Amino acid sequence: MDLKSLIRDIPDFPKPGILFRDITTLLRDPEGLRYTIDFFAQQCIEKELIPDYIVGMESRGFIFGSPLAYKLGSGFIPARKKGKLPGAVHSIEYELEYGTDSLEVHQDALHPGSRVLIVDDLIATGGTAGATAKLVQKIGCDLVGFGFIIELRDLQGRKHLPDVPIISLIEY
Ligand code: PRP
Ligand code: ADE
Repeated sequence: MDLKSLIRDIPDFPKPGILFRDITTLLRDPEGLRYTIDFFAQQCIEKELIPDYIVGMESRGFIFGSPLAYKLGSGFIPARKKGKLPGAVHSIEYELEYGTDSLEVHQDALHPGSRVLIVDDLIATGGTAGATAKLVQKIGCDLVGFGFIIELRDLQGRKHLPDVPIISLIEY
């Protein structure tokens, strides 16, 4: 299936000069959505990336991370924006293509040795994924890899990631 044809491009959002790759058009397409999750799971199985937990980043990482965890038989752990999680948290600040932000995970969600796959809809500069990796590695988890629906190759986000397998389904 041509997944790229289901992604809508919106120029100058959220700031002038940013070409926004909009996944909402893929999500609303029943066959496109099913194919994306099935293909994502198949790639993880082929690469033997079956984690104990998927860590997905707010908010678009939740959309793809949860069904992927279901298909792989893993648990899902949300990495939320600052101040949203009710329990004690580990947190990390990071730079975005269009600003700065911070992410938090519950302290009791992950433990040293937990096998973790980090999942998000898109990697741009790699700031978000790189920060999430630092967070889970600081806890002592075994980071097995990353999975993205979209990779913006020009921005060289991979440079900010540790040397583990990376799955991306669509490249620009
Ligand atoms: C977007 C996207 C990734 C991140 C990628 O999230 O979903 O998480 O930016 O950019 P980077 O590789 O340059 O860090 P955003 O922070 O806009 O939040 P959202 O998912 O809530 O829209
Ligand atoms: N997150 C960071 N950069 C993005 C882009 N160009 N399109 C969609 N989401 C993004």
